[in-house]
Amino acid sequence: MSRLSKLPPYLFAEIDAARRAAVAAGRDVVDLGVGDPDLPTPRPIVAAMAEALQRPRNHRYPANPGALAFREAIAGWLSRRHGVTVDPAREVLALIGSKEGLGHLPLALLEEGDEALVPSVGYPVYGQATLLAGGRPVTYPLRAADAFVPDWRELDRLVSSRTRLLFLNYPHNPTGAVAGDDVLRAALAFGARHNLAVAQDAAYLEVAWSAPRPGSLLAHADLRRDRVIEFHSFSKMFNMTGWRVGFAAGQADLLRDLARVKESLDSGVFTAVQEAVATGLGDDYEALLATVLAPYPARRSLVLEALAAAGVEVFAADATFYVWARVPGGGDSLAFCRRVLADHAVVVTPGVGFGPGGEGWFRISLTAPDERVAEGARRLRRL
Ligand SMILES: Cc1ncc(COP(=O)(O)O)c(C=O)c1O
Repeated sequence: MSRLSKLPPYLFAEIDAARRAAVAAGRDVVDLGVGDPDLPTPRPIVAAMAEALQRPRNHRYPANPGALAFREAIAGWLSRRHGVTVDPAREVLALIGSKEGLGHLPLALLEEGDEALVPSVGYPVYGQATLLAGGRPVTYPLRAADAFVPDWRELDRLVSSRTRLLFLNYPHNPTGAVAGDDVLRAALAFGARHNLAVAQDAAYLEVAWSAPRPGSLLAHADLRRDRVIEFHSFSKMFNMTGWRVGFAAGQADLLRDLARVKESLDSGVFTAVQEAVATGLGDDYEALLATVLAPYPARRSLVLEALAAAGVEVFAADATFYVWARVPGGGDSLAFCRRVLADHAVVVTPGVGFGPGGEGWFRISLTAPDERVAEGARRLRRL
């Protein structure tokens, strides 16, 4: 069986085709499907990019692991924001978006037939990248009853002699669940107990507005000992999904192995983009982040009120720009989302697209303009 043929079907394709057909038929469709911020990248970052573009040295190949100045800016930010100390030269690696790094990690760490533990419900890339690397994804369940954090005793039983890697993702897409310090420490202990690498996807770490803020796994790790790598993204933090930039930080050996894979496949992040991002990580960081996050609490309230009025149960999340809600009456999330589109012209995402653990749920994204979220909420009241 080829690696490609092992990839699961892309379950969002059908809803996407139905959305395009509805738009082509002239319907006013409210798209609360994809998590792609509607607002632009903050002005100071765009202005810094405009300047960086003028510098001819930026027109040449980037330094493969990222410019040292970029990695120093990240190390400074990790220290100020998350109390994490890293060596910018060895413990930070620029990525062409966090997805790129997550996608390449299994190539660096897995031999044919090795296993990676991946969450169900969860972002599909972990399992797909594992399959493409010739590995075997072993799903571990995340349940509403456990607030979508792992049951470590259950995970202990899923470990085999071939398990090499644990994927974690907090704050969690699609549920918005946050891992407290106890969960992060338990993850490190689990990794140490079974001699696994722990890969934490922190793409939504900054997309949170209630205290206490979610923390970095690295804040609990000893990078001389713990085999841990954390993936960060500027996509959601600075509304930069189109720019393709993120970074990994963590144990030097893991970063070196990932960098070796990347050296064979890509040539780094456009240096002008690195310079632009670095300007956002300085003293004005919190003000910039506040402008990025400003729209979400009101949008979330509108959607939560609408769902409450419709009698739909939601998972009370503290982070991400998603609302995770139960399909009324339970059951087939794809059929439900098809029906919401047909009857109300609103696109929402079927939970089953995030693995079997997502069945019976659906995800609403808050990344549409305010008036579209408001219109979507009005329609969802009638579910
Ligand atoms: C959980 C999670 N991780 C990683 C990513 C990838 O983000 P990017 O590659 O834009 O940094 C996404 C994007 O939606 C995501 O939802």
